[in-house]
Amino acid sequence: MQNDKTTKISLDILTGLCKRRGFIFQSSEIYGGLNGFWDYGPLGTELKNNLRDAWWQDMVRSPPVGPDGEVVNILGLDSSIIQNPRVWEASGHVGGFNDPMSDCRESKSRYRADHLLVYLPASGDGHGFACLTGNEADAEKRIRKQAKADPSAYKVIPFPELNPADLARVWGPDATGPGTLTEPRQFNLMFKTYIGAASGEDNLAYLRPETAQGIFTNYKHVVDTMRVKLPFGIAQIGKSFRNEVTPRNFIFRSREFEQMELEWFCHPDEAQKWYDFWVAERLKWWESLGIRAEYLQRRDHDPDELAHYSTACADVEYRYGFTDPEYGELEGVAHRGDYDLTQHQTFSGTKLEYFDQETNTRVLPHVIEPSSGLTRGVLVLLNEAYREEFVPKGDTEGGPLEAVPGSQPPEGYEKRVVMRFAPRLAPVKVAVFPLLKNRPELVEKAKTLHADLRREWAVDYDQTGAIGRRYRRQDEIGTPFCVTIDFDSLEDDTVTVRERDSMGQERVAIGDLRAWLRDRGL
Ligand code: GAP
Repeated sequence: MQNDKTTKISLDILTGLCKRRGFIFQSSEIYGGLNGFWDYGPLGTELKNNLRDAWWQDMVRSPPVGPDGEVVNILGLDSSIIQNPRVWEASGHVGGFNDPMSDCRESKSRYRADHLLVYLPASGDGHGFACLTGNEADAEKRIRKQAKADPSAYKVIPFPELNPADLARVWGPDATGPGTLTEPRQFNLMFKTYIGAASGEDNLAYLRPETAQGIFTNYKHVVDTMRVKLPFGIAQIGKSFRNEVTPRNFIFRSREFEQMELEWFCHPDEAQKWYDFWVAERLKWWESLGIRAEYLQRRDHDPDELAHYSTACADVEYRYGFTDPEYGELEGVAHRGDYDLTQHQTFSGTKLEYFDQETNTRVLPHVIEPSSGLTRGVLVLLNEAYREEFVPKGDTEGGPLEAVPGSQPPEGYEKRVVMRFAPRLAPVKVAVFPLLKNRPELVEKAKTLHADLRREWAVDYDQTGAIGRRYRRQDEIGTPFCVTIDFDSLEDDTVTVRERDSMGQERVAIGDLRAWLRDRGL
């Protein structure tokens, strides 16, 4: 038996659970699906909405207290997905929102060139072998098989650094011979569409690749209508679209996804202070949702990694099962300076300076931008919550023991899959069971309680099968509390409440149940 909390949770495990239990499905699957697009099922929608609402509550309605002990002011926005295409010229996306791409002429696969590595013989002679980052074992296997050589005699370089003259001797990741990969070329990630009946270049528009620009283009409206004073923030949650060259790793990198973005406008002299503040706050926020601190880290970007608009950037990274022991991006906090407001001022001809009535001065604010993926956040919650545990048969006594995913329980134990979502985020908060489905008095009381609780929370009702099986069904979707109506309930108006993680049970009076649940995070 194992008790290894650091066991990696593979994407296969998560996608399997998501499909089986109605969290996330492949988009248009009955037609063969569409690469990079995902649909959220009933439970996935609840989970995503709960994460979205937690962000809105903690960033817009009740944001953290600022570094000077003052309450900060953040306002919400919901801008359109399709905007005047000049927005994207001004933002730099038309000219610069590109990824390098390489095609394989044989397999017709398309790769992000910066995601490819090449093994080249250190001696200088012979074939090279390319692989996707993370698939190094695959390249090494092919070196042994095809070149009958030892991989340690090879050096590994990023594909974009490969001398084009060497392309002819490199095998692509899916190729059966060398020389099929094309030289990297830039590919713009914005999806194009055409407005109205005509499809000419005059009618060209883009699906937004980030929600941020809608905030900059509405910044003046907000200043003029909401009597805001610097510093202040404008926040938005919504869909973004990127024609990713290689959508990968389930919902981690998809072509349609959701973002939660804050643009924090401040005086240039205070920008560094606010940058430090937001980086620290955002890390704290993810921890407040129950993400283990050791699974989160801050990573400051090197100057050569910075996006075209930012002068500094720090990522909040998470240790996903597929990156473990490394970490991958969850959120970026960028110091955008006055790049965006300057660009929009220049391109639109509209003055975007802030007029400070107290000092009678004008200033173009600087912007700090905490930008996270809502859908990527859902992947973090799923990864973080998933556990396989061995429990004594029949839920009789003893707590659960964490197990290595895929391992078999010993004698006297059975396996349960449990999603340990924080109660605030769990898609279903409470499940109500009558002890027996063939006793009308139990069923009626359970249905009455279910109808009462669901006015406040997402609540399931289940009367099918043994109580133990009903617990397992709820454990697997992460329901924090199960409430059973039994014969004592008919006598004394109490219920048994069973807690998901400890599997402990408590008798609670129905009249106290709401307060009891609220005290435990609902
Ligand atoms: N406005 C700044 C901006 O969009 P970004 O780093 O490109 O910055 C911010 O994106 C966040 O959006 C990322 O940290 C990630 O969580 C999410 N994100 C970006 N591209 C994504 C994709 N293709 N699929 C899912 N989430 C994505």
